[in-house]
Amino acid sequence: MIFSNDYKMDIKPILLGVNIDHVATIRQARGTRYPELIQAALIAEQNGADSITAHLREDRRHIQDRDISLLKDMINSRLNMEMAATDEMVDLAVKVKPQACCLVPEKRQELTTEGGLDVTGNLSRLQTTCKRLADADIEVSLFIAPERDQIDAAKAVGALVIELHTGSYAEAKNIKLQDVALEHIKKAAHYANSIGLQVNAGHGLHYHNVEAICRIPEIVELNIGHSIIAQALFSGLGQAVRDLKQIMLNSRSHIS
Ligand code: PXP
Repeated sequence: MIFSNDYKMDIKPILLGVNIDHVATIRQARGTRYPELIQAALIAEQNGADSITAHLREDRRHIQDRDISLLKDMINSRLNMEMAATDEMVDLAVKVKPQACCLVPEKRQELTTEGGLDVTGNLSRLQTTCKRLADADIEVSLFIAPERDQIDAAKAVGALVIELHTGSYAEAKNIKLQDVALEHIKKAAHYANSIGLQVNAGHGLHYHNVEAICRIPEIVELNIGHSIIAQALFSGLGQAVRDLKQIMLNSRSHIS
């Protein structure tokens, strides 16, 4: 009993990074000035977002270069810039200096980020990228599958943070497969934390599947976008963020 209480005291409230890419998707669909991205970011912050995430894709399908600079200047929390590990993106990040960069794989035809970064297969390139970003005082996170060799490689290239890809859990076709995927994420989070990495997670999380992920004590922050922006259609963005954050905090407080 004493041990379990001690353990509970070490568990921190879970943080929410709100990904606002799809606010920009609506704007870009018509080339309008609205919906205003900064307004979305500020509303998200006022309603519980601990950071704002935006993915500047090579094809600029939603977030634009100007958005990243404006977000950096205007928001009050932290800007997490998602990007591919290309020279173009690193040059941009070093100029704008978001508080954090999350390196993701990127394919032109994909609907959204489909898999984790292949860190094991790109050690020297990622080491150089991580160093350039870290030298500019940017916290570097690598978006990876919940696999031990990718976690070891992330540590080896100098990342301080990993974001575990929760897609296999979120998109599992049945409960059994979802349980297996959840178990992989739990083991990966535990292992990564044990070797000194901060563990974040995200992709495909929504109001009905986020609880089990929040109960993994090593996970510090979740990055969630599509489900929040979708829910905002019905409840408004502020309420959508508040509701999700409440579910996250409740789930975290029920870790035994
Ligand atoms: N984390 C990363 C690294 C991502 O690429 C994405 C998708 O842009 C997310 C989190 C958020 O995923 P979703 O929009 O499915 O919540």
